[in-house]
Amino acid sequence: TIVLGIEGTAWNLSAAIVNEDDVIAESTRTYKPAAGGIHPREAAQHHAAHVGEVIDELFRAFEEKGYSKSDIDAVAFSKGPGLGPCLRIVGTAARMVSLMLEKPLVGVNHCVAHIEVGLWKTDATDPITLYVSGANSQVLAYEENEPGIGAYRVFGETLDIGLGNSLDKFARSAGLPHPGGPLVEKYAKNAAEYIELPYTVKGMDFFFSGLSTAATRALKEKSNPNKNNIDEKNETGEKSGEKGEKNGEKGEKNGEKGENDETVLANVCYSYQETAFAMAVEVTERALAHTGKNEVLLAGGVGANSRIREMLEQMCADRGAKFFVPEKKFMGDNGAMIAYTGLLMFKAGDTLSVEESQVDAGFRPDEVKVSWKPEKQI
Ligand code: ATP
Ligand code: FE2
Repeated sequence: TIVLGIEGTAWNLSAAIVNEDDVIAESTRTYKPAAGGIHPREAAQHHAAHVGEVIDELFRAFEEKGYSKSDIDAVAFSKGPGLGPCLRIVGTAARMVSLMLEKPLVGVNHCVAHIEVGLWKTDATDPITLYVSGANSQVLAYEENEPGIGAYRVFGETLDIGLGNSLDKFARSAGLPHPGGPLVEKYAKNAAEYIELPYTVKGMDFFFSGLSTAATRALKEKSNPNKNNIDEKNETGEKSGEKGEKNGEKGEKNGEKGENDETVLANVCYSYQETAFAMAVEVTERALAHTGKNEVLLAGGVGANSRIREMLEQMCADRGAKFFVPEKKFMGDNGAMIAYTGLLMFKAGDTLSVEESQVDAGFRPDEVKVSWKPEKQI
């Protein structure tokens, strides 16, 4: 079976063609905001401007491998959750490709796809998944409701913003470019001490917005406790002469940072990671204990972070559970995860007519009837 999939819920427009074993062809165009975070309309304009060439390039790569378009059995797309304007562009493109190829549409849940690609590309079989990305943060596991049919139950989730978006928001306030997550990871490596930040787990859910705000505040307070301190610092600093004029801005903007500010930034980044990841790991551990499962799968863009991997690995080792992480290119948003989940769904008969193919910005993973598991396990 061969399925084409298109992803474009947010920043990454990516299409791929896969079979049961692997990715056959792929093509990607990434939207990078000029300033600030992701603007939904700008991202959608980016996707609209590039979706034609992405599909052309995909077909070319597919044909170069000796296949022809008629070998494709279905066209999958990310139906949601995601940014409405972006989803609509991807949905329209998928409908056109489906009509052109005369092959059925498959509407894929983006969160479920992050999990399925992990199951495909690791040896995990029945894990607790920690899915941490920009807009989403959830702890999920498959639960069978009747023979062969079940759902990914959400055991815990963020009750405000996703872990990745909270990192990005904090990083922006520190004058760093988008996406901030990888930069926070980089700066955290030079930390000297832990700064107390709010740890907010309630029941099985977590919150990240307050953490982001507190980290921003800590950065400001510690880099610029008061004007006198700054003056003192400048007198002893190497470039005191040049810096005199920038006093007022110091610590707030990304002007030249003194050695002290670098250390404060590193400390806050480090403390942010320790706090946020400990929250995510705690809920994952409790889901393990609750379900009696013995595998953990990490999914989503934040999963690229080596510190969260280390913490999960440690927790799994302590509990005698196995820990799985797919290759990095399958962690952030990618077309292959949509194509592969589409393939599973297509084989289970889970297709859509054009009339049923409207996108759903608030599509939850636990709304998806998962009927492809038995076939997958054979
Ligand atoms: P979703 O729609 O699933 O929420 P998304 O569109 O936000 O996904 P992903 O690619 O899954 O996209 O995740 C992107 C997020 O991952 C961004 O917030 C980014 O800062 C974060 N991220 C990427 N690399 C790292 C890293 N090394 N450390 C921490 N965060 C990271
Ligand atoms: Fe994602």
